[in-house]
Amino acid sequence: MSKKKIVIAVAFCLSCTAAGWAQGDFKALFNDKCAICHGEDGQGKTAKGKKLKVKDIHATIKTESEAEMVKIATDGKGKDMDGFGKDFKPDQIKGLVEYYRSLGK
Ligand code: HEC
Repeated sequence: MSKKKIVIAVAFCLSCTAAGWAQGDFKALFNDKCAICHGEDGQGKTAKGKKLKVKDIHATIKTESEAEMVKIATDGKGKDMDGFGKDFKPDQIKGLVEYYRSLGK
């Protein structure tokens, strides 16, 4: 294989793994890691969500930017919202927050 072909193959593979992390996967990840408090619909109406007073994404999407939410998801907030910066890569957190925000639209 020529050098050029290898470069193209690598670039193609990078884009296919990125596409592999499409919304469907973030949905599964969100439902697995976040929905216990935030609810699968993002409204925080789960038993745990009600107890911890988790806010509805329909409200917070109006007051918090995506960047602020990424920061909270990475570093945590208060004593109940853990930071997930240790568990996920930055682009995964971004994908989770994007999926979460999509629930509020
Ligand atoms: C143990 C329950 C719990 C889990 C699990 C949880 N959260 Fe939260 N989350 C909270 C609470 C409580 C708040 C509100 C913190 C505050 O405003 O003081 C919050 C706030 C947030 C916010 C800021 C916007 C808002 O609603 O105030 C984002 C963004 C967020 N969580 C994302 C996530 C993501 C992404 C996950 C999964 C990776 C997750 N959370 C998992 C409890 C949880």
